[in-house]
Amino acid sequence: MSLSELRLRSVRRVKLDLNSPDPPTTPNIMKVPFLDLKAHHAPLTEEFDRAIREVIESSAFAGGPFVEKFEEEFASFCGSSYAIGMGNGTDALWLALLALGIGEGDEVITVPNTFIATAEAITYCKARPVFVDVDPETFTMNPAELEKSLTTKTKAIIPVHLFGQPADMNPILEFARANGLSVIEDAAQAHGAEYKGRKAGTMGDAGCFSFYPGKNLGALGEAGAVVTNDPELRKQMQMLRDHGQSRKYYHSTMGWNCRMDGIQAAVLSIKLRHLDEANSLRRKHALEYGRGEVRAARLSRLCRSGTGT
Ligand SMILES: Cc1ncc(COP(=O)(O)O)c(C=O)c1O
Repeated sequence: MSLSELRLRSVRRVKLDLNSPDPPTTPNIMKVPFLDLKAHHAPLTEEFDRAIREVIESSAFAGGPFVEKFEEEFASFCGSSYAIGMGNGTDALWLALLALGIGEGDEVITVPNTFIATAEAITYCKARPVFVDVDPETFTMNPAELEKSLTTKTKAIIPVHLFGQPADMNPILEFARANGLSVIEDAAQAHGAEYKGRKAGTMGDAGCFSFYPGKNLGALGEAGAVVTNDPELRKQMQMLRDHGQSRKYYHSTMGWNCRMDGIQAAVLSIKLRHLDEANSLRRKHALEYGRGEVRAARLSRLCRSGTGT
């Protein structure tokens, strides 16, 4: 029986229950977990154990060589010059905005169809999020909406590559260039996704990733990163994430503690090697679930284009 037939059956059952004097019962439908992290991690546990032991033996818990190794690997995976490990994806967005000079009184254009962290990061900088609507086909930023939100206070745009579907970046980048705006990509849900041959996160001034456990590339706890090709931005973010230090105990600017930890970096290095395979399995499964469904036909189109993750 197809998924659509199953769903129709359960809908009919709910309607019948509603007509009866008794409260409706739970429809008898197959429960499929959205994400089974236990199964996802099972084949990797021995590798995790070895890597975590290595971190413990070297005591490199906060920043350090495991983080530097992962930063190099992730930058190379994305096709970017640098990656800067962060404590989580929200820190990544916040510090990228700060490093780009966004502050009090500034406006940053983004979308409401995202996780709250995108707008939160803007308000952390005392700037104001200005929302533009999304395209109903892709659910990502509609570039045609940008012009009417532009004011003299606009300093940056944050397109969000939601559910692995990249935003339509070319017109967004063109608009930003024409108006002197920075572009920070929220790629928290798009590790490995591509837009016209370029990886999500590498097209603007900075690309921000979350490695929250449920993400396509997930840590065994909290972690995040920013990728950039700009060495000055990299330096700024390295200072901001580490108490504003330019070198040990020289605090050149105000900063925070937003460092990535060594255990998460070691685990992420292992999981990164399996990311392409995991992403293609996700596409395959999305196509399976989508068969025969009108809404999922749209999703299937995105998957068939080979760009979404
Ligand atoms: C689109 C988006 N942006 C930002 C974030 C924030 O990432 P984190 O939870 O690692 O702080 C998330 C994560 O949930 C997200 O989905």
